[in-house]
Amino acid sequence: MAKQTITVIKGDGIGPDIIDATIKVLDKAGCDFDYEYADAGLAALEKHGELVPQETLDKIKKNKITLKGPLTTPVGEGFTSINVTLRKQFQLYANVRPVLSFKGTKARYENIDIITIRENTEGMYSGLGQTVAEDGSQAEAMSLITREGAERIVEFAYETARKEGRKKVTAVHKANILKSTSGLFLKVAREVGERYPDIESAEMIVDNCCMQLVMNPEQFDVIVTTNLFGDILSDLCAGLVGGLGMAPGANIGRDCAIFEAVHGSAPDIAGKNLANPTSVILAAIQMLEYLEMGDKADAIRKAITEVIETGDRTTRDLGGTHGTTDFTDAVLERL
Ligand SMILES: NC(=O)c1ccc[n+]([C@@H]2O[C@H](COP(=O)([O-])OP(=O)(O)OC[C@H]3O[C@@H](n4cnc5c(N)ncnc54)[C@H](O)[C@@H]3O)[C@@H](O)[C@H]2O)c1
Repeated sequence: MAKQTITVIKGDGIGPDIIDATIKVLDKAGCDFDYEYADAGLAALEKHGELVPQETLDKIKKNKITLKGPLTTPVGEGFTSINVTLRKQFQLYANVRPVLSFKGTKARYENIDIITIRENTEGMYSGLGQTVAEDGSQAEAMSLITREGAERIVEFAYETARKEGRKKVTAVHKANILKSTSGLFLKVAREVGERYPDIESAEMIVDNCCMQLVMNPEQFDVIVTTNLFGDILSDLCAGLVGGLGMAPGANIGRDCAIFEAVHGSAPDIAGKNLANPTSVILAAIQMLEYLEMGDKADAIRKAITEVIETGDRTTRDLGGTHGTTDFTDAVLERL
């Protein structure tokens, strides 16, 4: 069988450090991938004069699987978020963000195992109808929810639940106030839920969901929701398991998938060998599961769990005193 080629975007800030660490881990686990490197973000702007060069888009399309470090979107007019651009360009409609408790972190809970599945292309982030009055007195933006978009994300959530042997899908909405957009999402979620009698269906208003996640997070299994709510809720979930350094995310479409950390380029610690690479390593685990290489995924998860649980050479955000390279060595030694 031909070797799988992965497009690798190292990204900005801490990106190169945590991506290099992850590639070492994949290689040590015997994954046998070929890597094709591509530029995006500030690194690409400096080299090619654009944030996402065509060459990068071509590589993402050709190889279908991309592992990506965080990208810095320069502040200011004229720069659309690169991540939003990639999600739209490749119709990466599902953003899958699992969070899992690891003993040994400073997290408040020990039994969290939640996947947030966020619609990634519509809602408040569709970028439609954006206007600001010339005198700056008012601004407008449009939220678009389609039946097709809602149906495919909710189906994706139930299919994920089935595949992973999970028991419950909670649709999170604000249909009591946002009657048209959130109302349509909820209506479709109920219809889809009826087609999956083997999985418990629940629904919850987003503000209550925030409180419930903080007070009683063990009740959640799979959460499915629209773009803006999913963005916020998934960070809240990351906070339940020890912060952004522990949170991976997959952007999945029909033809392509991009795997990444949830956090940004962390300019405050860039180049200091301080970053925790766990989030990108966990994203690589998601990638392996997507590629049906579950045995490799399990081996890496076991190694990283042991390092975090024993506190052997952990990074500062995990309460340790070590840097990226020491932490990575501790994982590599266990593989
Ligand atoms: N997916 C992405 O590419 C992505 C996501 C979010 C933000 N961004 C971009 O990243 C830049 C910086 O954003 P920000 O500072 O608001 O958020 P950030 O996520 O980069 O950092 C927030 C805080 O978390 C810490 N942190 C983040 N990742 C860490 C890790 N792996 N180990 C240890 N500590 C970690 C940082 O040091 C910082 O204190 C911005 O340009 C933003 O647009 C990119």
